[in-house]
Order: sequence, then C-alpha cells, then structure tokens
Amino acid sequence: MESKTIRSKAPAAAPAGGRQEVVVKGGTLFTASDSCRADILIRGGKIAAIGEKIDPPAQAAIVDASGLEVFAGGVDVHTHFELPFMGTVSADDFESGTTAAACGGTTTIIDFVIPSKGRGLLEGLEAWRAKAEGKAVVDYGFHMALVEYDDRVAAELPKVVREGITSFKCFMAYKGAFMMDDSQLLDVLAAAKRHGGLVSVHAENGDMLVNIMARLVKEGKTGPAYHPVGHPAAAEGEASHRAIALAKMAGAPLYFVHLSCDEALVEVKAARLAGQCVLAETCPQYLLLDDSLYGKNGFEAAKWVMSPPLRDKSNQGKLWQGLADGFIQTVATDHCSFRFSGQKDMGKDDFTRIPNGIPAVGDRMNLLYTYGVQKGLLSRSQFAAVTSANPAKIFGLYPQKGTIAVGSDADLVLFDPKKKGRLSKATTRHRVDYSAFEGFELEGLPAVVLSRGEVVAKDNVFTGRKGRGRFVKRKEFDSRGWR
Ligand code: URP
Ligand code: ZN
Ligand code: ZN
Repeated sequence: MESKTIRSKAPAAAPAGGRQEVVVKGGTLFTASDSCRADILIRGGKIAAIGEKIDPPAQAAIVDASGLEVFAGGVDVHTHFELPFMGTVSADDFESGTTAAACGGTTTIIDFVIPSKGRGLLEGLEAWRAKAEGKAVVDYGFHMALVEYDDRVAAELPKVVREGITSFKCFMAYKGAFMMDDSQLLDVLAAAKRHGGLVSVHAENGDMLVNIMARLVKEGKTGPAYHPVGHPAAAEGEASHRAIALAKMAGAPLYFVHLSCDEALVEVKAARLAGQCVLAETCPQYLLLDDSLYGKNGFEAAKWVMSPPLRDKSNQGKLWQGLADGFIQTVATDHCSFRFSGQKDMGKDDFTRIPNGIPAVGDRMNLLYTYGVQKGLLSRSQFAAVTSANPAKIFGLYPQKGTIAVGSDADLVLFDPKKKGRLSKATTRHRVDYSAFEGFELEGLPAVVLSRGEVVAKDNVFTGRKGRGRFVKRKEFDSRGWR
C-alpha cells in the first residue's frame, strides 16, 4: 500500500495509539546543541531512527516537512489548570489548556498541585489526578506546592517524590493563603534536598505587599492601575535575595518561577557567579509586555493583573540578555486564565480581589519564535533550549522529552518560518474572552505538532483526542551541569 502524506488543509487522521510508523520527511532539525537536514522515523510513538534519507516503510504515514523547521515539542513547566484561587477557579481545565498547548506547539506541561491546608499532599495529588485523567490531550506532570509544613507534610513528601513528582513550590507571597515563612521554607529546602526534590519559589515579600496594598485601598486607590504599585520590584528583589540565602544555608538547589525584573535577576546572577545552584524561569509576558498596560482604559487593566506584575519596559532587554547568557534557563507561561467578564471583574471595586493570572500556554512557542528567533535575540538552538530542552532536563523529563534523539518520545513541532499570523481573541484556543497578547504579529507558525508520533495539531486546528495525554513520572533533579 502507498504511504500517506500528511500536509493537507484538512486535519489528518492521527496514527492510532502511536502504534503506526510515521516518517517526518525533508525537514531541518534543530536541537539545543545541533542542527541538520534529516528525516525522522517514528515507531510506536518513539523516535526509531534519524537519517539523511529514510525510505518510508510500507504503510507508514508521511509528514512532509520540506521547508519546515523541526523542533522537539515545547515543555511548559508552569501551568495552573482548574485551580481554585481567589474565590474562583481558573478557566482552562486540562482539556482546553492542553488543547491550546498542543495547537501552540507545546507537547508536555507541568501543572501545580496546590493542596488545601490541613488536607495533606496525597489528597491534593488525587484531586489533581482526577482533573487531568481522561482530559489531557498531551503528556503532563505535576509539581507539588507546599502551603504549610508540619509532621504530616514531612511524612508525605518522600512518598510524593516516589510518585515521580520531584519538584516543590513554595510561595513567599499570598499572605493568609499560600504563603510560607522563612522557617518553613528552610525546613522544606532541607527536606527536599534529603529526598531528591527541587524547590521552586514564588519570590515576592508577602508582608511588604499586604502592607502596601492595605494602605492603597485605605486611600481609595482601588483600581487595577494600583496593582503594580502594590507589588514593587523591590519586593521581588528582596525575596529573591532571602530565598537564595536560605537555599545556601540548606545547601539545596533553588529554582525561581516567573522571574520578572532586574532586581531579581541581579540576585540570581550573583548567586550563580558565586557557584550556588540557582536556576530561573521567566515568562513571555515579562519579556514582551510592560506596566504601561495598567494605565490603559480603566478596569481593562485587570486583564494583566498577575503576580509578579508586568514591570517597567527597561527590564525586558535585561531578561532577554539573561536568557541568551544562560542566567535564566527556561521560559514557561504561568498560564492561569480567568475570563474578563465574570471572573476578573470580581475585583472591580478593589484590585486586591482581581484573580491573578493570564492566559498564555498556547502563545509561548509562537511568541518566542517570532520575538526571540526571528528578531535575532535567540538562536534556534537557544530557542530549543529555553522552551524545551532545559525545562525537560531541570525537571527530570530528559531525554524522554525535550530533544530529538533515537529513543525519545516523538514529540515534535514543525515550524513554518514563512507563515504569518496574529494573536487575538478570535484565534485563541484558551477558554477565555480575551487574549493577553492581542494584536501581536507572528512570523513563523507551528504547521504540524506531533505528540508521541500522533499528529495532534495542524495549522492551529486540533486533531488529537481528549484523554490521550499521559502522566509522566519524573526523575530526581540532577544538579550536574547547572551550577
Ligand atoms: O498571577 C499569577 N502568577 N497567578 C498564578 C499563581 C502564581 O503565583 O503562580
Ligand atoms: Zn507564583
Ligand atoms: Zn504560577
């Protein structure tokens, strides 16, 4: 029988269950270290061979990649799907969130289990498994957030690591909800180190924020324009410095989520240059949006209320440089979406009640390709590193995820460098009524996305299947290479 070519306008039938053979033909491959013109043979959902010219076996489906750039599928290590937060629940669940991810070229996500206080980690984990199973369309893992530290949490922590959940998040902000004090953070750092877990922190000084926000509200300054005033960069810089000192004391590695400003970056740089294992993630919103949006159109500014907030534009060049220099290793989204109408407007009389977060999981690869690669700020290998290889390595998924190699999962995104588009509410796959990046022009779009050898998206059309995503057990953090 003839081989079948997948590159029509209509969504292609996905190879069933990843069992069928697929050949990705004629593309140019880019990994974090290399590039070459090669074909890829996929068998059983895994990469079986890479070669200059592979003759497709009979029955094989062919994905025509001529003129396309082939990258490992994106790995977004920071999402919040169906998160109960600030009196509501984030709008994207594991189905809509991972569908948006797939269409945007991301084939693995790591979401945060945030257990309820007093209920323990394992109960939280069961709740998150129930949210994801039968819904996720691409593969997923979990981080475990620690919102308190007591004997029960201490006893459950090693069990969580054994389940393949090898990273933890502590909040230094959200006082009265998720925030931990320094003593608890020190205990967590020591325990995670003992059991092979990597601790990440949301670094903002929660006491500072509460104090400033209470004063603003008392003065009648209740609009979203005051959100960044209530979350100054100094509060992120201070918390970053303190977290680094605590990690040093515990002799533990540390990962900063959603680093937004130079005040935090200088702390990370100083620690790394002093030999401490300190890693950092930033997000497309901090690279591309700025705090002038809070001055716009009254309550519309609520669309960009997130923590940390958007910063002064002068930070953007420093973050891009930090990525290019390797001081920041990853770009994730912190996708935590809320509808403008019916959710963000819960805070219309008081900005401190606006649910924090933005939609972004479907936009990350597109934005980084256009504004990083096409604008010349990142090489294609650096793009592969910060969007896929580094997050996979840091969070114990590599080389199953994050690279194009024999034996790796056949998670691939095929970019058409010539194709143009624009991000907008009309084209977003996020389950919300706005785009945080409305009007952003794109040059280079994902033409075909494969997850374990199945074509799950073509030209922003989802061709996968609800529930096909699998939980991925992750290995323990290996600090070698990251100091
Ligand atoms: O505003 C944000 N970042 N919302 C999600 C929760 C968090 O802090 O990561
Ligand atoms: Zn956070
Ligand atoms: Zn987050």
